[in-house]
Amino acid sequence: MIKVLTVVGARPQFIKAAAISRAIRQEYSSRINEVLLHTGQHYDPEMNQVFFEELGLPQEDYNLNVGSGTHAVQTAAIMVGIEEILLKEKPDCLLLYGDTNSTLAGAVAASKLHIPIVHVEGGVRSYNKGMPEEVNRVMCDHLSTLIFVPTKSGMESLRHEGFKELNQPPFTPDNPKVYHCGDIMYDNSLLLAEVAKRKSTILDLHNLRNKKFALVTMHRPENVDDRETLGNLFRTFNDISIEEKIEVIVPLHPRTKKVFDESVSNEIKDKVRSNPLLKIIPPVSFLDITALEMEAEIVLTDSGGVQKEAYYFKKPCVIMMKKTAWVELEQSGTAVVTSNQPEKIRTAFKSLMAKKNKMTFPEIFGDGKASAFICERMIENFSTTK
Ligand code: UD1
Ligand code: UDP
Repeated sequence: MIKVLTVVGARPQFIKAAAISRAIRQEYSSRINEVLLHTGQHYDPEMNQVFFEELGLPQEDYNLNVGSGTHAVQTAAIMVGIEEILLKEKPDCLLLYGDTNSTLAGAVAASKLHIPIVHVEGGVRSYNKGMPEEVNRVMCDHLSTLIFVPTKSGMESLRHEGFKELNQPPFTPDNPKVYHCGDIMYDNSLLLAEVAKRKSTILDLHNLRNKKFALVTMHRPENVDDRETLGNLFRTFNDISIEEKIEVIVPLHPRTKKVFDESVSNEIKDKVRSNPLLKIIPPVSFLDITALEMEAEIVLTDSGGVQKEAYYFKKPCVIMMKKTAWVELEQSGTAVVTSNQPEKIRTAFKSLMAKKNKMTFPEIFGDGKASAFICERMIENFSTTK
């Protein structure tokens, strides 16, 4: 039996961790003892509790309740909290997901205690260190012992950074193992798409059944923290909805809501509120977002997870980022990277809609069995090093 301490903190991590926790409960409970640590980075019920309930993620064993703060304040508070629990629990490894401040804090705390780090969604690079996520991913990969990489481009990035695929065990942070294993988020979407169709009521709730609609999500600082930029984005969605005669539905991240409510001009707010085609709603559950993604005509997003899910469900995607770490999406021709510039967004929207029916979506995210693969490799590596 190995003991794995899992760290989650932000919405996408609850979703990713649910896939591995499910595999542990169903197949590996006699070989993996998982202890779940929630940092408290996300705390609103619709950014947090809803995922535990809906995805069957067990209630956390520890919650650091760090809440929001500047990067240093938040990351430092998480480091202090995780260190204490690592010392108490003495796990065989620390399991970290993705690229948030919770990921970085876990990596720094564990590495100084010589506790091996397992990084799921390693190797992902946007080559834009202006994004906090890029800094967090690079740091975490370089402190990890096992790195699970979702895509071929991720493997290539790690090769460029000096990681060697042929390293032999025992693996350590100086002799890490890199595995190409597919995307853990694909496990969830494959498994839960049918459940979402059956159980989600979101389409009826917003009167979207049999209607053409676009799904929008955004929360990146460069898009939502500045009132002018956010206002221009809403003006763009407003114009698109009217010109293209399409409904636009926007489940609003709390970061975005705060700026919209407190700072965006009344002119834009009035436009949005008086347009029946443009609907802002609270953040939705995983089954609800899955139902929306499956039925949307097109997705516009700056979310890493949502842009991949659009692809899983064969939807065109406008990626409102300067660069995406999921380069395969751009290369496939089904997604266009636009940054937050209104003209680029409108042009991409039109061109993607025009060629939508001719698009193909080759399999680039694996076979939906990444969770089992990761569990097997953790058992193999950490049972034998004892
Ligand atoms: C974080 C991650 C980002 C990830 C995103 C997923 C970092 C640096 N960023 O960004 O990589 O894509 O989560 O959603 O780790 N807030 C609430 N309620 C909550 C959570 C946040 O109101 O439950 C508000 C607060 O005003 C907070 C702001 O949102 O200051 C930002 O939250 P934070 O966790 O710092 O960053 P995200 O933008 O959510
Ligand atoms: N998501 C959700 N409800 C929403 C918006 C997103 O459940 O209202 C899910 C989405 O399907 C994906 C994950 O949250 O699985 C992505 O998280 P987010 O966009 O917050 O962060 P990122 O992926 O950009 O780090």
